[in-house]
Amino acid sequence: MNNKIDVVLGLQWGDEGKGKIVDVLAGRYPVVARFQGGPNAGHSLKFDGKTFVARSIPSGIFRDGSTNIIGNGVVLDPIEFRQECADVAAMGIDPVAKIAISLRTSLILPTHRLLDAAFEAAAGKGKIGSTLRGIGPSYTDKISRHALRVGDILSPDFKKKYDSLKQRHLRQLAELRFDCDPSAEEKDWFDALDFLRKFRLVDCAYFVEDLLEHSPILAEGAQGSMLDIDHGTYPFVTSSSTTVGGVCTGLGVPPSKIGRVYGIFKAYCTRVGSGPFPTELFDATGEEIRRIGHEFGAVTGRPRRCGWLDLVALKYTVMMNGVTDLIMMKADCLDGFDTVKVCTSYRIGGKETDRLPFDLSEAIEPVYTEFPGWKTDMTGIRREEDLPEAFRNYISFMERYLGVPVSVISLGPDRNATIER
Ligand code: IMO
Ligand code: MG
Repeated sequence: MNNKIDVVLGLQWGDEGKGKIVDVLAGRYPVVARFQGGPNAGHSLKFDGKTFVARSIPSGIFRDGSTNIIGNGVVLDPIEFRQECADVAAMGIDPVAKIAISLRTSLILPTHRLLDAAFEAAAGKGKIGSTLRGIGPSYTDKISRHALRVGDILSPDFKKKYDSLKQRHLRQLAELRFDCDPSAEEKDWFDALDFLRKFRLVDCAYFVEDLLEHSPILAEGAQGSMLDIDHGTYPFVTSSSTTVGGVCTGLGVPPSKIGRVYGIFKAYCTRVGSGPFPTELFDATGEEIRRIGHEFGAVTGRPRRCGWLDLVALKYTVMMNGVTDLIMMKADCLDGFDTVKVCTSYRIGGKETDRLPFDLSEAIEPVYTEFPGWKTDMTGIRREEDLPEAFRNYISFMERYLGVPVSVISLGPDRNATIER
């Protein structure tokens, strides 16, 4: 069979609405796989009047008969995962039957979370504004070849390996003079590992290869391309490969198996945490977007920084990911605006460019193209022909600029508030 892995990933700084779209698409993909990130993700799913925020569990979990893979590129916190599974179970779903976890997935230790907090505290004003979920320190251990992986929990000398890594962390914490009790969560963490042992622990590359014999797979990205460790606004990024290459390394599949790449973006930009954001608004318009879009973190509750859509950054991430289909989220949040702006170039040192500079923190003046607002409540619209003309013009402009069609328009958080073109 020629089944492919199609990919959904965020093209901005995360929080584009990946959960909703994966949930919608999961009706067509019996298998959904997370390939990177960890519980720093917060993918909100809304259906039948219920809400669920997926963190480590793939957003296909609520679809009948689905298989949900946690790939080797993910970092998994057993305590958080057990809690998330309990929440899923409370909604009538058996997580053990529907989730498979790669043996090569790295584990987040309680001391990783402490180190995350300690590094952030030590960084003062230069802090990343991380989600404090231990993401950076666990990927650091993976790359420096010290990580404990899910497969290790089956080994008789696991406790020894754990102790050795913990000692390493304690030395780092002592150096940072971070006041904490490093053993507080230890027992709970080991209990959570017992829970983990109930799951299908798989060799991801073979598992995915075998599944592809029978069905297409949807790979679900977390975070966004502008937070990619290599290509994002470094150092204000997350610690994983959020762009399409992460699918190959994070699941163990060759590029030839990748099919469509669905790139998700919001009709405006948001960012949580620190780091450059050229189109950020500090005025009433920014506040209005935050209020209407409910732009507060699903994981941390932090207010998100808001600004106009940045097509320069978007064109860059569309290019890098080879996006075949664009999915536009939350345009309905701009329904009431008299004019809607998009940034179409940057002015840097008097020169205009439509390319992203190496250093986004230098003085960038966004150059905007303005559109008349559509001033129509679009939330109830379900057919393309019912969309206001001003909005269709705005979309056409974007498609021309980016060179990729907008295939899906989402006009509200619910599964059904979706127009496919
Ligand atoms: P989803 O999947 C938005 C941000 C953090 C911080 C930076 C590094 O819901 O889109 P980390 O804890 O990863 O070391 O933090 O990345 N960040 C996200 N922002 N959505 C996310 O995930 C994010 N995951 C991490 O705010 O700026
Ligand atoms: Mg989020």
